[in-house]
Amino acid sequence: MNVLLIGSGGREHAIAWKLAQSKDLTKLYIAPGNPGTAQCGQNIPIGADDADELLDFARQNEVGLVVVGPEDPLAAGLVDAFEAAGIKAFGPSAGAAQLEADKAFAKQLMRSSSVSTAEGRTFDRFSDARAYIASRDEPVVVKAAGLAKGKGVFVCDDPADGILAAEKIMCDKVFGQAGEKIIVEDKLLGEEASILAFVDGRNIYIMESSQDHKPIGDGDTGPNTGGMGAYSPAPVVTEDMMNHITREIFVPVVDGMNRNGTPYKGILYAGIMITGGGPRVLEFNVRFGDPETQPILARLKSDLLEVLLAVCDGTLDQITLEWDRRPAVCVVMASGGYPGDYEKGKKIIGIEETQQLEDVIVFHAGTKDMDGDIVTNGGRVLGVTALGQTIRDAKERAYRAVDKIKFDGAYCRRDIADKAIKGSGD
Ligand code: AMP
Ligand code: GLY
Repeated sequence: MNVLLIGSGGREHAIAWKLAQSKDLTKLYIAPGNPGTAQCGQNIPIGADDADELLDFARQNEVGLVVVGPEDPLAAGLVDAFEAAGIKAFGPSAGAAQLEADKAFAKQLMRSSSVSTAEGRTFDRFSDARAYIASRDEPVVVKAAGLAKGKGVFVCDDPADGILAAEKIMCDKVFGQAGEKIIVEDKLLGEEASILAFVDGRNIYIMESSQDHKPIGDGDTGPNTGGMGAYSPAPVVTEDMMNHITREIFVPVVDGMNRNGTPYKGILYAGIMITGGGPRVLEFNVRFGDPETQPILARLKSDLLEVLLAVCDGTLDQITLEWDRRPAVCVVMASGGYPGDYEKGKKIIGIEETQQLEDVIVFHAGTKDMDGDIVTNGGRVLGVTALGQTIRDAKERAYRAVDKIKFDGAYCRRDIADKAIKGSGD
């Protein structure tokens, strides 16, 4: 079968790498892809937002399955467009993608499905938001309701900072339309985990747990980013906890989406805070996480194409997945300055040598091929991923690999997986 994968980040390189190992794959196309995905299939110079061209390409090249990586094209209805043209597509419809694209929708759905989340209110006028935040003396979390590339959330210990955040989003419009509505919610305390599931509208298959590291600095300091590293599994998610999360979060949400007339199909990703009072939902994403996908797929032994097709066909109950028992750690190497301004076009050396290391995979994210050289082309540049016998071993291998790769201004956190090492007693 020919497959067209849409997107160009580290997540898409990980998906392409895994799809390339599928027994039923004939040809893999990636639009637009990156130099990493070019090693797994053929990159096609069509943007993820160009639905008409993507449709034409799929028709002309006998594409049997389209896999949509990022949230923007999902929210814009790309899966609906392919399905209307009779082409199988993996991912939620635009209606179902609101679970990520509109945090007010997600809050409402959680409320009506009795899913535990932070108490929160939605505002579409700054004056109302300001009055509400000023009336509180506890920390607040202020979130743009729309899509903001993982940067639209401000955790504010002081209400005055909460008002500034609301002003930035609603008045200065730093996230454009995505900030027309905001959510103001209570700050939750605890340890975070990312739980991703395949959902076929009815059946739910929960993947191995993982944990992201959102803030830019060691010790979870500084502004939030798209994610600076991840590991899988997350020891904080015990088997009992996973059963609880399945029963109290995934099942009611999937049921709620059916009741709402927006059945859910694709990856359902719950960002969870494990609080003293149990797990509570921070957010939903409607696609594979980035960088969580890198360690998760590094551990998946089963054929990914088979699973994606089962999701599209509604036959997920007939599938079992096999996982590598070894933990995996992904360290993101970023451009100096990210998540603020940064320069592009810095030559990267050491990737090929690093790829030779056993059980190490260097996933490309913001890179570009410039006359045969790989140069930086984004904030998050590479996701250096390693498997190890223990989480500590995986971490050490990942950092040994990171230290072999050089580019001007390269930055990474040095404490990825430390929480898991503490939690696992390794
Ligand atoms: P989100 O995009 O909603 O997951 O938010 C990004 C990050 O902000 C999360 O991964 C958390 O670290 C933090 N965050 C979001 N909501 C809350 C909350 N209610 N309490 C504490 N931290 C939060
Ligand atoms: N790593 C967080 C996300 O994919 O949104």
